[in-house]
Amino acid sequence: MHLTLIGTGFVGVVTAAVFASFGNEVVGLDIDQKKVDSLSKGVVPFFEPDLEALLLEQQKSGHLTFTTDYHTAITSAEVIMVAVGTPSAADGQADLTYLFSALDSLAPHLHKETIIVIKSTVPPGTLEVIDLRLQRLTKVPYHLASVPEFLREGTAVWDTLHPDRVVLGATNFDVFEKLELLHQPLNAPMIRVKAASAQMAKYSANAYLATRITFINQIADLCEKNDADIEEVIAAISPDQRIGKHYWYPGFGYGGSCFPKDVSELAAYSRSVGEENNLFNNVHELNTRRIPKIMDQITQEVGGWKDKKVAVLGLSFKPNTNDMREAPALKTIEYLVAAGAVIQAYDPQALETAIHFIPDHPNVSYFSRLDEATKDASVILALIEWPQITDFDFSTVKNDLLEQWFIDARNQFDPKKIKAWGYNYRGIGR
Ligand code: UGA
Repeated sequence: MHLTLIGTGFVGVVTAAVFASFGNEVVGLDIDQKKVDSLSKGVVPFFEPDLEALLLEQQKSGHLTFTTDYHTAITSAEVIMVAVGTPSAADGQADLTYLFSALDSLAPHLHKETIIVIKSTVPPGTLEVIDLRLQRLTKVPYHLASVPEFLREGTAVWDTLHPDRVVLGATNFDVFEKLELLHQPLNAPMIRVKAASAQMAKYSANAYLATRITFINQIADLCEKNDADIEEVIAAISPDQRIGKHYWYPGFGYGGSCFPKDVSELAAYSRSVGEENNLFNNVHELNTRRIPKIMDQITQEVGGWKDKKVAVLGLSFKPNTNDMREAPALKTIEYLVAAGAVIQAYDPQALETAIHFIPDHPNVSYFSRLDEATKDASVILALIEWPQITDFDFSTVKNDLLEQWFIDARNQFDPKKIKAWGYNYRGIGR
């Protein structure tokens, strides 16, 4: 099948490479010439395990190309997938500017019946708005569908190749058939639904997981008010098959480019349809306030930050990515700098990204070696569960001259071991 992917972010590049690996002729289209040049040379402009190898393989096979030229990319396509960003606008609702702009640009180049699949996360009702817009721009017949994406950064290639399900949102029987055929090699259950249901499913999945994380964070906070240990509570409730173990580790709150945005968009959508008092407002608020709240408590415990060296370990929003969107490091470092701390930051992949995300400050320096970042640090703050951090032997960097704190922001370490090495240990809810 001839397939065009518009937008070469995570979803676009991974989807393009995976569908090319199934023997389709795939074109990746982006208006960003630099990105297209880089991808055309087989270089992925962000860190995502296994993606570059797959990309190179597919480029070599001739099934995958990249371009900025709408004409080339659209005229050959039987299916066009739009995977551009839909960031939150100031009022919290999804900003559809990039999506509309992509559709406006593709419309004049349609010349045969085409299926246009929206992969970007959009609120229910968006296909109707798109339809009205396209009708004004082209007389060529097209079909709209909504096929949301459930891949995670850091495991994007694996997730795309092994989805739990493929959700196809459309109305026309032939469109369902063609989209099923395209997704057949994934060997996953296909769920045919209305477009609005597909869009709600995407928001629901992310909002549910974000709510679950917020829930366990709240329980962890309650555990700190008594003698309970959140890890024991989790061990005690997760064997209940109705509850389970997934997305169940407490911490500094959820981050990344999706959960914060999607929860706030669902809250804004709820308000826009008259559901003023909704769960998602609260989930969003609680997550937004989480880092300053925990940091206030930690401040009391460590006795303030003025001129203290703090090793901040893990700058990306989670392991196996260099993405720092809504990463806990951002608010944490901002808090610490304002309190007068001296930051020694380490990350295995995100140091270059950090330059763009963290304002230059004389008190913030970056280290590519973990042991150097911890040198003379009064506080070690293990923010992200990169294996390079969780597998590190912190007994080797214990400074005998200092009273040292070890803050385990994701409960990844054995408190007994850390204490036995001489640190004051502080986890979450334990
Ligand atoms: C998330 C969803 O998991 C994907 O299914 C979805 O396709 C994607 O958003 C998207 O909408 O594009 P992602 O943002 O890559 O994927 O990351 P996750 O691994 O889900 O983690 C999100 C955040 O939750 C991270 O900050 C993570 O540290 C945090 N988290 C996760 C917790 O704080 N506790 C947990 O138990 C699990």
